[in-house]
Amino acid sequence: MSAEAVRRVLAAGAPVPPPFDVARIRADFPILSRLVRGKPLVFLDSAASAQKPRAVIEAMTAMYEGGYANVHRGAYWLSESATAAFEGAREAVARFINAGSAREVVFVRNATEGINLVAQSWGRAFLKAGDEVLITAMEHHANIVPWQMLRDQIGIVLRVAPVTDRGELDMEAFRRLLGPRTRLVAVTQMSNVLGTITPVGAIVAAARAQGALVLLDGCQAIVHAAQDMQALGADFYVFSGHKLYGPTGIGVLWAKLAHLEAMPPWMGGGDMIASVSFERTTYAEPPARFEAGTPAIAEAIGLKAAIEYLGGIDRAGAHAHEQGLLDHATARLSAIPGVAIIGEAQAKGAVVSFTVDTAHPHDLATLLDRAGVCVRAGHHCAQPLMERFGLPATARASFAIYNTRAEVDALADAVARAREFFA
Ligand code: ALA
Repeated sequence: MSAEAVRRVLAAGAPVPPPFDVARIRADFPILSRLVRGKPLVFLDSAASAQKPRAVIEAMTAMYEGGYANVHRGAYWLSESATAAFEGAREAVARFINAGSAREVVFVRNATEGINLVAQSWGRAFLKAGDEVLITAMEHHANIVPWQMLRDQIGIVLRVAPVTDRGELDMEAFRRLLGPRTRLVAVTQMSNVLGTITPVGAIVAAARAQGALVLLDGCQAIVHAAQDMQALGADFYVFSGHKLYGPTGIGVLWAKLAHLEAMPPWMGGGDMIASVSFERTTYAEPPARFEAGTPAIAEAIGLKAAIEYLGGIDRAGAHAHEQGLLDHATARLSAIPGVAIIGEAQAKGAVVSFTVDTAHPHDLATLLDRAGVCVRAGHHCAQPLMERFGLPATARASFAIYNTRAEVDALADAVARAREFFA
């Protein structure tokens, strides 16, 4: 944290987090002390799902042991207090992302559900045949398939901006693909495969100039750096709790309130209505309009705990630490003959995808597992991107606040051994 940032925090009366210390962070994550196959766990798959700090586990246990009841329904104290905790989680999320208000925060299961919600609610209500949605070639399936489903349902046109050989968004082509028929630009803020951080400022400005709305998939990006909804200038933003050191089953769709107010519900059921009769049903105001049925109550509490945990650490220091791990991994892996790194964007987050000349990524991952090293192998839910690079799959190591340089070394050593084993 810069001296100026420290001064601002002090002026605001908030406690200043201690300087980033990976050993202290690791002590907060119980799973990191376990052995796997008799070896220390080297967990390098946090981009798929991050491990949870004790604070999250304890908050959820405390909820179930002493505070649990359904929300928004009970006339009794326990339900009222669970409701207050659940809505307190929404407020914590709103502060975390600097939303205009907590009413702009819709709880969903994950980022995938958030994008499907936008496609099926906003898309079906406001798009018509021939309208265009522009995505990029580096999208996760979650930001491809919902638009293809919408295309099949109402005849929208899906356009795809290409990526360069380095794995960056081809901004010239992106601008060429934007036109008067473009109604929505839906883009990842950080590729889960390449690590590429997309230039969202330029993307938002270009989309706005054509009158298009912008949806950002913030699933990976929000894990590594604070996000400010009022500064980003997007219309929709989605992320998942489980990648952010929180629980599975809870995620967030943020949208400008005016959009949410204009959008029809997507799913019907309890809690999303104002009144129901067999003749006519009227709907609740957002965000309740989009939260049919009993929500993920303890998971929302867990997400709040994750956000508070991140609030208590030096995030700038954590970010620098993760980038240091990325640099170290890039240097160590590139020094191994036969290893190719996929994705060399200038702006890149803490993810490294790679291939090894002697082994299929699945076989490689299996062998790394024998050394206690967990990496993801496969198409990473981004098959079109794999095709772009002419690959069936890659191995991927992703780094979190709790990873160490020694773990990067364990990865590189295990990759080098595996390459020889398969040769
Ligand atoms: N989207 C997750 C990943 O990249 C599951 O692994």
